[in-house]
Amino acid sequence: MKRFVLAGLALALGAGAVIAQDAIAQRRDIMKAVGGATRDPGAMLKGEQPFDLAKVQRSLAIYADSAKTMPGLYPAGTQTGGDTSASPKIWEDAAGFKAAFDKFAADANAAASAIKDEASFKANFPNVLKNCGSCHEVYRVKKG
Ligand code: HEC
Repeated sequence: MKRFVLAGLALALGAGAVIAQDAIAQRRDIMKAVGGATRDPGAMLKGEQPFDLAKVQRSLAIYADSAKTMPGLYPAGTQTGGDTSASPKIWEDAAGFKAAFDKFAADANAAASAIKDEASFKANFPNVLKNCGSCHEVYRVKKG
């Protein structure tokens, strides 16, 4: 009987580990998509690529979308592993982490409304990008 209980426990723990790895993989994939969505607008800001309103709007939608799922992908037990660069601060200050994503989404949505042409893009997009560094500084650790 005891053996069965232990086997059941091991299975449950095993399943938990799989889910934990999924959460890490998912949140890293979302951030990679956010990074990917930043490449074209970044090049446009530098004048290395022609301004493209549709691409800019698509990137802003990806930013706002990321904020909906990211804060929920940090369950207990996923502080390490899966090559995560999450900082322990996320678990110490989950509310602050969520608020940082809410601000990111609000800034992205405000920019999406404000950006109609290249001039308004150059005036508004950099403000959205400030969120990347300010959040990473607090909630992400540099990997060596
Ligand atoms: C509110 C917080 C927050 C904002 C805003 C944010 N990030 Fe992140 N980002 C994170 C966290 C946390 C990680 C670590 C992910 C993990 O491993 O759990 C991360 C990781 C990344 C990674 C590495 C993904 C990997 O593991 O390979 C890239 C690239 C990235 N972010 C790009 C960006 C860019 C570009 C922006 C702005 C357009 C941005 N992020 C905005 C919190 C944020």
